[in-house]
Amino acid sequence: MAGAGTSRVWHPNTQADEWGRFPEIVRGDGMYLVERGGRRLLDGVASMWCNVWGHSRPELVRAMHEQAKAVPHSPLFNLTHGPAEELAGRLVGMAPGMHRAFFSDDGSTAMEAAVKMAIQYWANGAEGGDGARRKKIACLEGGYHGDTFGAMSVGYVPEFFSRFRGSLFRAIRFPSPGGAGDGSAMEEEAAQRCLGAMEEGLAGDDAVAALVMESGAQAAGGVRIYPPGFQRRAARLCRESGALLVLDEVATGLGRLGSMAEYAAQGGPRPDIVAYGKMLTGGCLPMAATLANKRVHGAFGGRFADRNHLFHGHTYTGNPMAAAAACENLRLYGSEGLLGRVRRSSAILGGLLEGARWPGGAEVRHKGLLAGVELDAPGGGASLNRILFEEGRRRGVYLRALGSIVMLVPPLAIGEADLRRLVDGASGAARAAAAALSGKGAGARGGGPSRGGPRRRRA
Ligand SMILES: Cc1ncc(COP(=O)(O)O)c(C=O)c1O
Repeated sequence: MAGAGTSRVWHPNTQADEWGRFPEIVRGDGMYLVERGGRRLLDGVASMWCNVWGHSRPELVRAMHEQAKAVPHSPLFNLTHGPAEELAGRLVGMAPGMHRAFFSDDGSTAMEAAVKMAIQYWANGAEGGDGARRKKIACLEGGYHGDTFGAMSVGYVPEFFSRFRGSLFRAIRFPSPGGAGDGSAMEEEAAQRCLGAMEEGLAGDDAVAALVMESGAQAAGGVRIYPPGFQRRAARLCRESGALLVLDEVATGLGRLGSMAEYAAQGGPRPDIVAYGKMLTGGCLPMAATLANKRVHGAFGGRFADRNHLFHGHTYTGNPMAAAAACENLRLYGSEGLLGRVRRSSAILGGLLEGARWPGGAEVRHKGLLAGVELDAPGGGASLNRILFEEGRRRGVYLRALGSIVMLVPPLAIGEADLRRLVDGASGAARAAAAALSGKGAGARGGGPSRGGPRRRRA
């Protein structure tokens, strides 16, 4: 344990006073994190949704080690290097219609870069200068794109960001399409509401620079799986309006929902800009990428005096160790047939979620290896996250809740036995947490635990 008076670490998105001390991780062992003292925790959230192969996969360790011996960091300012060149080629090859890769450090920075690219595209006089007035960004309610100011402005989740509300730039917000991706009539109605507002908002406003949205699902904003056909129709509306389409695949691409480029699986017009992060280095080092098509990249050329080049960069942009890890990671995706494994694991996970005993009133939403179980848990007092974590830990599973949602987001290469352990541990911890939050010693709020009783689900 670490903390309580001696630690100087300020933990992210955490009320540390509620915790006092934090378990200290000293090493990883495959799908497990190992605490000082030896307790093993199955990594049920892929160390914040980024781990692919489990911890310390030898090929990734070797790639980082070899690169560290050659040069741990050299910049992309005035220079280039092999790992960044190879990775850009791999990413552009993987993402249909993309032409260039811009590197940054995290999902938030990838999205900051994406929004700046979209705004500067028009400011540079693209398309004959007709779009100089295109400065507004449109987005979806319930979307989440990171914690920096631009990302908060286009991914405003009130629960996370209300304290900053007055300092964000104004964005046009369309209703969330919501849903569990089950194609129900209710879901189609929500999708129609969103698409109707989008059609009106985009067609009627020639000052919109871009529509920014997550691809495939809204992840951190509530694990909302898009209804079938929604993204394709949204992309079409965007294309017809002339605004750029910016997709965020930080959480949902690179195999999380079962495809490398989720937009290719969704169909419809391709994005102009798309962002990746999280799983890019297999969960080893921070790195993200913002990819742009020829239409966008073409507006950034010319002479220096034109001042059309992208006004954005970070010290560690394209860090060679991270890029080497990412190249090796993507190589392994191919040689290990990872996407096929994810699709098989997704079916297994769907069955396990269905058969598990969740607290009464729980709603399960799932696609690929992204799952959220929304509890009918009361707010206020101790956080669900705090109680769930401790209950998960007692059962040997590292869990984290987002608001009232228990997240199950394992490493992509997880096997069946560990998936079973994850769902058993998470459902047991959820029942215990729901009981504790409702003030009851056993059972759960809303009629007690039920097997196979969640309201909606997605296999
Ligand atoms: C869709 C999406 N975009 C962006 C981000 C921000 O990524 P990061 O936390 O790496 O800055 C996240 C993080 O969860 C995300 O889910």
